[in-house]
Parts: sequence; C-alpha cells; structure tokens
Amino acid sequence: MFKNLFLTKPVEPAGHVDAGEPVEGSLQGEATLKRSLTATQLVMLGIGAVIGAGIFVLSGHAAAEHAGPAIVLSFVIAGFACALAGLCYAEFAAMLPVSGSAYSYSYATLGEFVAWFIGWNLVLEYMFAASTVAVGWSGYLNSFLGDLGMALPASLAAAPLNVINGSVVYTGGLVNLPAVVIVAALSGLCYVGITQSAIVNSVIVAIKVIVIVMFVAFAAQYVNPDHWTPFVPDRVTDANGIGHYGTQGIIRGAATVFFAYIGFDAVSTAAGEAKNPQRDMPIGILGSLVICTVIYIIVALVLTGLLPYYELSTPKPVATALEAYPSLLWLKKIVEIGAIAGLSSVILVMLMGQPRIFYSMAKDGLLPKLFAKVHPKHQTPYVGTIIVGVCACLLAGLLPINLLGDLVSMGTLLAFATVCVGVLVLRYKRPDLARPFRVPAVWIVCPLGMAACLYLFWQPFSEHWHLMTGWTAIGLLIYFLYGYRNSKVRQAAR
Ligand code: ALA
Repeated sequence: MFKNLFLTKPVEPAGHVDAGEPVEGSLQGEATLKRSLTATQLVMLGIGAVIGAGIFVLSGHAAAEHAGPAIVLSFVIAGFACALAGLCYAEFAAMLPVSGSAYSYSYATLGEFVAWFIGWNLVLEYMFAASTVAVGWSGYLNSFLGDLGMALPASLAAAPLNVINGSVVYTGGLVNLPAVVIVAALSGLCYVGITQSAIVNSVIVAIKVIVIVMFVAFAAQYVNPDHWTPFVPDRVTDANGIGHYGTQGIIRGAATVFFAYIGFDAVSTAAGEAKNPQRDMPIGILGSLVICTVIYIIVALVLTGLLPYYELSTPKPVATALEAYPSLLWLKKIVEIGAIAGLSSVILVMLMGQPRIFYSMAKDGLLPKLFAKVHPKHQTPYVGTIIVGVCACLLAGLLPINLLGDLVSMGTLLAFATVCVGVLVLRYKRPDLARPFRVPAVWIVCPLGMAACLYLFWQPFSEHWHLMTGWTAIGLLIYFLYGYRNSKVRQAAR
C-alpha cells in the first residue's frame, strides 16, 4: 500500500501545442478547454492575480506590527523566495502545459499522495484567497460608499463570526453581503468563458496599474525621509513571543506580505488555455512577478515615507496615508476606486484557477467526475465553477479576513516548496525530456527556493499549527475515502 501511494503519473509533454488544439487527456469529439490566451494576456492575468489585498490592505499592518519602514526589505525577501519558486513554475508550465499547476507537477514527480496533499493545499491558495480578498474588497467598497454617505448597515457588511484569542465569537453581523455579491458575480463571469474573463481582467489590471502609478507620482513629492528613521525599529517581543521589529520582525513581515505575491502561479493554471504555452508560460509567470516586485518596493517606500509606520495599521493604509495631506484628498478617492477594481481582478483569477485544478484532479480520478465536466458551448469547467463559487460565497459571507490570511499563505508556501523539489526530481529521473525553459543553476536555485519557502511557512505555522493540521486531516479523509479508490493511475497499475 505504501508504495502505491507514491505512484507517479507518466510525464508525456505535448510536442508543440497550437491554438485550437485539444487539451491533454481529452477524447475525440469531447468538449475541451479553449486555447486562446496570448503572452500579454498571461502577464495581465498574473498582475491581475497578484496586486490586491497584499499591498492595499496588509502592507500597512505588516509595517506597523512587524517590520516598520523595513517592510521594504520584507517585500524584497518575499519577492526573492517567489522568484526562485517562479523559475521552477516556469520550467514546469512550459514543459507540461496542463491546467493543474503544482498539483499536476507533483503527480508527475513525487507521486499521488504528495499530489493530493498539494492539490488540497491549493484549495487554501485559490478558493480561500478569493474569499479572503472579497472580504477586503467589501471593506474598501463600504468605506467608499461611506464617503458618499451611503454606507451599508454594519450587520450587512460584517461576518457573523470572528476568532479572538483562539475563541470563536459572534460579532453581531448577519452576513458580509458585498463580499458574497462580488464572488457570485465573478463566478458568473468564469462560467461564461475564459476569453471574456481575460478581457475583463485586462481592463481591470490597466485601471489598477494606472492608479498605483498616480499614487507614486503624486504622493512621492510629499515623502518625508525622517519617517524612514529608524529604518529597522528596535526589537520588541510580545507575550506570545511573536517578533516585532528588528531582523525577526522583517522576516515575520515577509511571511505576511508573501500574501501580496500569491497569484503569479495562477498563470500556470491557464496553461491548458494558452495559445503557445512553451514560449508564453515563462513570460507570463516571470514577467508578472518582476513587474509586481518593482511596484511593491516603490509603493512600500512611498507609503512609509508619507506617514510614521505605526500609523499605518488600518484596513486601507494607502488611503489612510493620503488622508494626512489635504492637497492629496482627490487622489484618495481615485486610490479607493483602484483598490476596488484591483481586488476584484484578484478574486476573478483565483475563482478561475480553482475549478481548473479540480478539473485536473477529477480527470485523474481523485475527485468525482462532475468536476471534469466541460460546458459544451462555453468550454469552461462549469460544474466545478458553480461549486467553487457557492463555497467561496459562504466563506466570504461568514468568515472574517484575519482568520484565513495566514492559512492561505501557508498552503501556498507548501505548494511552492514542493514545486522546487519536483523540478530537481524530474531533472534526475527524466533528463531526456525537452524543456523549453530551464531553471538556471538548478542545484542552487531549487534547494534555496525550497528552503526559503519552508522558512517563511514556519513563521505563521508556529502560531496556527492546529488549523493547518485540522485542514490536512480533512484532506486525508477525503483522499482515503474517495481518491485512493478511484485513482486512474492506480487502476492502470493493477
Ligand atoms: N496577491 C493577492 C493579493 O494580494 C492574493 O490580494
């Protein structure tokens, strides 16, 4: 049985895949996903997934609580870990243009059990992140409506549950209605088609980037370098031993702002729908990552230069920094609109990614077949899209943003570390495979990438190990009750 758990799926990379060609695993005449995405759309998809709550919501908290102005260095560290993992994703995505991302790569290299574990963690990354960001979106929307004197009643804009000091408490809220509405609307878009989704995404990304450029251009002249001193505030340790400031604070800040980078790998879930995945996947993944890293470092510098870091711990730190300057109030409204647009594109890409991972898992027999159903007209995995949409609506409507943020990062970091190991394993096991993109200095980049991701994983894990363990236990139960019995790879091996 033990050996059976680690059966791998044979690696058969497509020769050259062109637009319109069927996607891996499809049968003659069967409806398949559509190959329509260009390199530019893939970069836009990446930026759409990446820039969101991390910079618009969490950056201020990470500066105020963990790193001070040195949050800039936290962004550099998290970006460095992501760059190493990004190189590994690029090698896999160009070689195996399939929809399952880290799940499919693990199946091909480390075996079914690891693949399931990673697939299960990707649910944290995609579906839970969509809900988490939707809650942040709701906060920005309600603040914007409040400026116009039209704020929703508190009971319709807050989750009924919160977790304070480890206990679940009732908040007095009924449901986070805007969060539910945005998830439902964007799920509808994903149902209709990936081409339409990519076009809407490109428009939103353009708005988001223009707003950020305006923020930097107009606010930079108000930066007061005194706010950067001390750059690394002295270390303070709270009762739980959690680090604030000092080197430890920079590392803990990096684990928090890692959330800001999540999403560049979502580009790889669209590999099954890229026109020319061998060439365009590395461009999409690494291009979006480089652009976002540069943006984050500049925004973090300007943000911490506008206000003392300890005043930035608000749900909308970028807007808060502008509020301090009366001559910049006009820009605050524009930033709020940019954030509302920006967060919605993150939710969109996350909602697109999750059903595509389920699609791959169902094709392999690890999930029920209905997740592999493709809509005859829209050519989207529509049943999975509906199921994910409903679950994400429930999470977004009922749970608070702070409960899930770290879980999302932990699930993603585990997936990244596994992909780094997977590249090495496949280089060793199948050196013969054609690799359109190769990780440079692979024996340095892959181990370093894995170590960096696991190190960042450890920071929140030491606080939330019980949540993570519970999540893993549920996943194992589902695997042994369903996936283990229905796995196609195992059936073929019998
Ligand atoms: N990177 C995404 C965000 O910051 C998840 O919202």
